[in-house]
This record gives sequence, C-alpha cells and structure tokens, in this order.
Amino acid sequence: METIRILFVGDVVGATGREMFAKHIGAIKQQYAIDAVVVNGENSSNQGRGITPKIAQFFFDHQVDVITSGNHIWYSRDIYAYLDQNPRILRPANFPSGAPGSGVVVIQVKGRRVAIVNLQGRVFMREQTECPLRAADSILTYLKDKTNIIFVDYHAEATSEKMALAYYLEGRVSGVVGTHTHIQTADERVLPKGTAYITDLGMCGSLNSMLGMQKDAIMSHFLTQLPVKFTVDTSSPFVLSGAWIEVDVDTGRAIAIERIRIIDEGEIA
Ligand SMILES: [Fe+2]
Ligand SMILES: [Fe+2]
Repeated sequence: METIRILFVGDVVGATGREMFAKHIGAIKQQYAIDAVVVNGENSSNQGRGITPKIAQFFFDHQVDVITSGNHIWYSRDIYAYLDQNPRILRPANFPSGAPGSGVVVIQVKGRRVAIVNLQGRVFMREQTECPLRAADSILTYLKDKTNIIFVDYHAEATSEKMALAYYLEGRVSGVVGTHTHIQTADERVLPKGTAYITDLGMCGSLNSMLGMQKDAIMSHFLTQLPVKFTVDTSSPFVLSGAWIEVDVDTGRAIAIERIRIIDEGEIA
C-alpha cells in the first residue's frame, strides 16, 4: 500500500513559537518520515496575533508546505494582498465572499494531489461566518474530480462543533484536525469510515504561559475584568504540539494518526 504522511502543527505563537518550530521541524520530519507539513500560523506574528508576509516566508523557508489560519488572520493588514498572491497560505474558507485569499489549496505530495482546507467554527466565535458544514459540502464538490486525499484544519472553540464536522465529513475526507484553543486534546483516532480526527492539535510556544501569552496579564483580567495587553511569553520551557496522519493514497482513507508533543527545556533562539 502506498501511503503519505502529513504533519499538522497547532497554532504557532510569536517569535517564541517560530523559533521552537524551526529548531525541531527537521528532526520531526526525519523521525516520523513526514512527507508534507501544514502549520497554523494565525498567531505567529511578534504580537501573537496575525501573520506578516515575512513570517509566512519564514515558514516556507523552514519546510512548511501549507500555512493555515483562523480568526486572527485579519490582524495584520500586510497579509491581505499576500493571501491573494500566495495560494499556500489559507484563511478560513467560510468567511463571506470578497474576503482576501482562499480557504482551499491543492498541492503535490510524492506525485499525488493533496487538498488542504481551512474552515472556522461559529460557536463562541465572534465572526459571523457561513455555515461550515455547507461550506465543506461545496468545497468537496469542487474537489470531486481533483483528489480524494483531503485534510481540514477546523479552527473552532467548541468540542461539540468540532466533532460534528468530523462526523459530517467522515468517510469523505482523510482527516479533520482542530485548532484555535491552543490546548492539545488526547482523543486522536481514525473514525470507522477512515477519517482521522483530533479535537485540537495544541500550540507551539512557551509552556508555562496561557495559550502562549504571559499569564500575569490574563490572570489580572480574570480578577478585575479590566482590559489588559497580551504579551507573548518568551520563557523556557517550550512546547511544540501537533499530529501526523498517514493516508492510503489510492482510497484517501486515513490509516493512522499519532499525536506529537515535544517539550524543550533548552535555548531556542
Ligand atoms: Fe490561535
Ligand atoms: Fe484562533
């Protein structure tokens, strides 16, 4: 059986997350025989919100094949034109039409076409996006004669909403991986009809932080309810979280999913 292995890395937070990613990606690729890398870059700017063209290029220079994103993609305006120019960086497909960029890309991996799709949930999310289930249906119609190897980065908050999309697409896509919460879940498995699933990949950044940000300001917000400025945490140790999925290239069915969580107590810069 011919297979392809794709690695998905959860939200990379700030320069801390970028350096952690860059330090480990080569060894991870080698250790797990990874054929392609997809990383969620929505928090990879220095402020931890958004991404710039320069940072997108940084990922492409460090073995990344596709960058996915989510609600924070719109934070840096510099990225708008870049989204239209570079098809390998995605924004959620179910933003209203007219938004810059695209939420679907088809790339070549080991001579096979592989589709990466980015969608955003609606439960506890501020943006009024189109129905992700119906958006997924029309994307699958678009991909029908292109490939049956299809992966979805589902950027959503609620576990129920994430499971709903996975079951909705079960047997129709190779994998659904969740992002956005920055907290890795331990529920990775291949669903009965051959769709690999994990509720959330987790994040890449400082371990003793809150979702990659310094915890003191966030604690103060919870205590006082006053607005606070979030700052990316740069302290050691660092974590890189994600999962790889192996897929049978002829059927598009996932045959394995394995969670990855690397802790680095050393220097990363
Ligand atoms: Fe995020
Ligand atoms: Fe997000």
